[in-house]
Amino acid sequence: DDEERALLERIETLKKERNAVILAHYYTVPRVQDAADVVGDSLALARAAEETDAEVIVFAGVYFMGETAKLLNPDKLVLMPDNSAGCPLADSCPTDEFRAFKKEHPDATVVSYINSTAEIKAESDIVCTSSNAEHIVRQIPEDKPVIFGPDRNLGGYIQRKLGRDMIIWQGYCYVHDAYSWDYIARAAAEYPQARVIAHPECRREVLDHADFVGSTGALLAYTEESDAAEFIVATEPGILYEMKKRSPGKSFIAAPATSGSSGSVCTQMKQNSLKKLCECLERSEPEIVVDKDLAEAALRPIRRMLEMSA
Ligand code: 13P
Ligand code: SF4
Repeated sequence: DDEERALLERIETLKKERNAVILAHYYTVPRVQDAADVVGDSLALARAAEETDAEVIVFAGVYFMGETAKLLNPDKLVLMPDNSAGCPLADSCPTDEFRAFKKEHPDATVVSYINSTAEIKAESDIVCTSSNAEHIVRQIPEDKPVIFGPDRNLGGYIQRKLGRDMIIWQGYCYVHDAYSWDYIARAAAEYPQARVIAHPECRREVLDHADFVGSTGALLAYTEESDAAEFIVATEPGILYEMKKRSPGKSFIAAPATSGSSGSVCTQMKQNSLKKLCECLERSEPEIVVDKDLAEAALRPIRRMLEMSA
């Protein structure tokens, strides 16, 4: 509508004036994705943050994503449309408890999912995302115990894929953990030609039945490359916007999370509105600030991830 068009134009002007780049995750609302220079999964967005020449980074996503962009660019201004958009999975892993957990396994290599706080990253040897977790864990010598946190579903999935026991922190994402095979099977019966695709943060029962499992970026690539024309998508339904854009002839069904539902929504991602995106560029706030010592400690395992997944 007219208001959205005016906001998009204003954002475009401000972006040039400020020499800013806008990064957005696939789970944000369509208009925010429209305003972005880069839309991607966590790894692609971390890479984009690392490589940008822009002076200002605006991150439309959840807090740990903006924070990671800041860790990679300590001297740049990093803004978020709404810095109260947290990731409950990241916030489900308190630092003290994680330190105690580590103490029980002092020889272990600690691999943390990027969906974690800077404090947890600082306690870790290597960070990973859902697109490189398997590749990263594979590079750790077989005789080394591995602590994996905070997502139990991604951890379990990697453990089964590699046939390697890991010590897993029992956190989960409320959005993905809400999917059960019970409801998805009903959709699969209704659309017998459809491929079921799922994010590894889903429960085992969903992953075991899915035709393809991958990060948001990998799911998107699969829908483009696959010869199938219908997909039941078990991840946050914000990604359907880009899937439909890239494959206009194919159909996408948001997997039901409960009876009659269409997808499972990440409310935190939806806090990034076009209006807030415009306002944050206008006011140059809210700014992401990370304590210097913490930033140094948290950056090390992120750099390690980027080297190991190059
Ligand atoms: P991706 O890295 O697959 O985009 O996942 C991010 C996320 O928050 C999933 O819930
Ligand atoms: Fe966090 Fe889940 Fe939302 Fe991803 S979908 S940002 S893991 S709460």
